[in-house]
Amino acid sequence: MKVLVIGGGGREHALVWKIAQSPLVTQLFCAPGNHGMRDKAELIQIPVDDIDRLVSFAKIRGVDLTVVGPELPLSLDITKRFQEIGLRIFGPTREAAEIETSKAFSKKLMEKYHIPTAKSETVSLSEAYERVDSLEMPVVLKVDGLAGGKGVVIAQNQSQAIAGLDRFKTLGKAASQIIIEEFLEGKEVSFFVVTDGEHAVPLGSAQDHKTIYDGGRGPNTGGMGAFSPSLLVTPELENKIMSTVIYPTLEALSKEGRPYTGVLYAGLILTSHGMKVLEFNARWGDPEAQSLLPRMETDWVTVMEAALDSQLEHVKIHWKAGTSVCVVLTSEGYPGKYKKGDGISGLDQKFSNNVTVFHAGTTFSEEGWKTDGGRVLGITATGSSLNHVREQVYAAIKGISFSGMHYRTDIGHSI
Ligand code: AMP
Ligand code: GLY
Repeated sequence: MKVLVIGGGGREHALVWKIAQSPLVTQLFCAPGNHGMRDKAELIQIPVDDIDRLVSFAKIRGVDLTVVGPELPLSLDITKRFQEIGLRIFGPTREAAEIETSKAFSKKLMEKYHIPTAKSETVSLSEAYERVDSLEMPVVLKVDGLAGGKGVVIAQNQSQAIAGLDRFKTLGKAASQIIIEEFLEGKEVSFFVVTDGEHAVPLGSAQDHKTIYDGGRGPNTGGMGAFSPSLLVTPELENKIMSTVIYPTLEALSKEGRPYTGVLYAGLILTSHGMKVLEFNARWGDPEAQSLLPRMETDWVTVMEAALDSQLEHVKIHWKAGTSVCVVLTSEGYPGKYKKGDGISGLDQKFSNNVTVFHAGTTFSEEGWKTDGGRVLGITATGSSLNHVREQVYAAIKGISFSGMHYRTDIGHSI
């Protein structure tokens, strides 16, 4: 079968790497992809938000299955556009994906159906300004819409809250509604399922490391590294997440006329008052996918097909025993303004069998590999013990370099 993956980051490289291993796949495309995956997939120069061209490409080339990586095309209703003309696509509809793309919708849904989450109120931007003086600190302020990681502020005092709202103003429509949320303390875990809207199969857990510097310091990024599974998610907690978060959410979405098919990602926080949902995402996490997919033994294509055919109750996903760690290498300046075009050395070396290099922001030309994004590479190692895997991943990184290269040295430590 012919498969098209949409997206071009490290998560999509991990998806392409995994899908390419399926004996069912005869041809693999990625739009727009990145040069690091060109040995596995044909790169198609169509941006992820050009839905018309993606639809015609899939139709003309006879693509049997399209797999959506990021949220942007979901928010543009790529799923319905494909389905309308009988093309198979794995990912939720725009209405279902609003669980990620509208925090106001997501909070309302969780409150209505008693899914554990931080207390919140949704107000207009001007009302948020008026309320600042009376808010208990710290407080969390979030914009309703997609803001590329810039839509959340944790304010310790009134002036930080005002500065946050001032920044939100620059985000335009995404900030037309503001969520004022209770600040929660606890460890965060990312939990994933694959679902056809009725049945859900756990894909396990991972711990993301969001801040740019070691020890949780500095601004938040898209994710600086992850390890999986999370040691905090015991089998008992997993059952609890399934019964109090995942199934109630899927039922709620169905009741609201927005049945969900795809990967659902719950961002959870484990507080002293129990586990609560911080957010849902309508897709795999990045870099979490780069740590989870290398541990999956089952053919991911057969799982996606089962979800699309409502056959998930017959599916059992097998995983490699042990653990995996993914460390992200970033360009100087990220998550702010960063440089591009620096030469990368060390990518042609022979890495150990249990190490995989996923490309996120790289390009290749006659001059060799160059940086082309904020998050440049994700290096993943798998193995039996966290200590050993960590050693292996950092040993592999020692051989890679580019000017201004930055990475965290504590991935897998902060548990
Ligand atoms: P979100 O996009 O909602 O996941 O928020 C991004 C990050 O902000 C989360 O991963 C947390 O680290 C932090 N955060 C969000 N909501 C809260 C909250 N209610 N309490 C404490 N931290 C939060
Ligand atoms: N790693 C966080 C995310 O994918 O949203």
